[in-house]
Amino acid sequence: MQHLLSIEQLSAREIQRLLESAAHLKLQRGRDGQVLAGQTWALIFTKSSTRTRVSFEVGIRELGGFPMFLSKNDIQLGRGEPIKDTARVLGRMVHGVIIRTFAQQDVVDFAEYSKLPTINALTDDEHPCQILADLLTIQEKLGGWEGKKVAFIGDGFSNMTISWMWAAKHLGFELAVAAPATCQPPADFLAKLAAPNVSITTDPAVAAKGAHVINTDVWLSMGQEDQKEKELEFAGFQVNAELLAHAAPGHIVLHCLPAYRGKEISEEVLELHAGTIFQQAENRLHAQKAVLVALARK
Ligand code: CP
Ligand code: NVA
Repeated sequence: MQHLLSIEQLSAREIQRLLESAAHLKLQRGRDGQVLAGQTWALIFTKSSTRTRVSFEVGIRELGGFPMFLSKNDIQLGRGEPIKDTARVLGRMVHGVIIRTFAQQDVVDFAEYSKLPTINALTDDEHPCQILADLLTIQEKLGGWEGKKVAFIGDGFSNMTISWMWAAKHLGFELAVAAPATCQPPADFLAKLAAPNVSITTDPAVAAKGAHVINTDVWLSMGQEDQKEKELEFAGFQVNAELLAHAAPGHIVLHCLPAYRGKEISEEVLELHAGTIFQQAENRLHAQKAVLVALARK
């Protein structure tokens, strides 16, 4: 593994290795090898973040490195300097880069031009770090995903759902996505995915039926905040007690956070499942440390 650009590009074996390493790092927290000693890793963020930024900064420090946070407005990228020039400069100075931005191509270009280990910290197309933390949480809470049904209720073609669909393709678990007709993955994407274990419906109850994991995310992703008409499409797609009545006994609820109570999830369900949801948030740290260890060059 040279980069973490997407779940699409990972193999099942790579995912499993990262999760084994994350579980190990979690157990031995405080006794980390200083894999990043003497290294500086830059975090270039053009979108807001709480969990991703904090977990990477803490994780880099715990591994002995120095995190350098660069919001787009602090650097010339925000004034239009091309990503390929930013990449070539950083490539001569730092040891790795973590990027959160809009276009997936920018992350791909950064990796190419910088020659540095590059981590996608969320683009419009994928959120690979989040999915690794989510899978770790499923492993911890349910013992694994084999024979389990995962339901995703919400935007059917967001960074979260796209990454989840690739995870299901690689790992083979059943994934049912319930999304409004206007927010479903397009036919060309589904043809490329070619995963018979991934189903798409407009009925949240159908997706939730017998599910062991009920997963949701914001209706309007970052950059879509002014698309109020899109939000109207999601009436009936809230994860609430009524929907959970369809799920399997012992189900868990996941939310990558931030959560908008009263929209994609009810206050009651979020608080009832807060133990799992905040464990999921903590797992960002352990999963990303595993990614850093896997990508760090000596
Ligand atoms: N889930 C997640 O990526 O959270 P942040 O946007 O706060 O980083
Ligand atoms: N789909 C959401 C995920 C936030 C972590 C977004 O892109 O805003």
